[in-house]
Amino acid sequence: MRAADIADDLTTVLATEEDILAKLEDIAAQVARDYEGKDLVLVGVLKGAVMVMADFSRALPTLVPMDWMAVSSYGTGTRSSGVVQIRKDLDTDIHDKHVLIVEDIIDSGLTLSWLLENFAARGAASVEVFALFRKPEAAKVQVDCRYVGFDIPNEFVVGYGLDYAERYRNLRDVAVLAPHIYS
Ligand code: PRP
Repeated sequence: MRAADIADDLTTVLATEEDILAKLEDIAAQVARDYEGKDLVLVGVLKGAVMVMADFSRALPTLVPMDWMAVSSYGTGTRSSGVVQIRKDLDTDIHDKHVLIVEDIIDSGLTLSWLLENFAARGAASVEVFALFRKPEAAKVQVDCRYVGFDIPNEFVVGYGLDYAERYRNLRDVAVLAPHIYS
């Protein structure tokens, strides 16, 4: 589904599918260079990162294992609560591995700052972050993010994995949700 198919639900398109895929190619090339010869594992954060993980991992020129965490940081509303809870843990041991966390978005930063500490405590050789989107104005804690796709305004955005009440994840583009949908 494209933004034009649900134009009444959206205001501004921030990144088209084409923009996103081009950005993923660039970042995959950087990651391939930076991790050459290293034991890399990608960790996706469910559910929002499913789309970015699928496209980013396939843009890499090398084989790479993937694992997944599910944590909850905010329920079905539009604002972060700051409460982080593990709903699904990793299946693999990341001790001595170079971990790249793949995230769809950094909003307050609370989820990632918690994950970074948690992974460091498991003895990972390194832990870095790739976030496709970041809202600098929404930051409550600073997160050291090595790869960022797009900095975006502090608006409620949906698409490409990002949801509002579990809807809009299968929208191919990323766009600002029209206020009449959630108010
Ligand atoms: C979103 C997103 C990040 C987190 C970012 O996930 O995927 O994991 O929130 O917010 P923060 O920087 O304020 O912590 P969410 O908890 O909505 O779950 P979902 O991926 O299943 O939609």
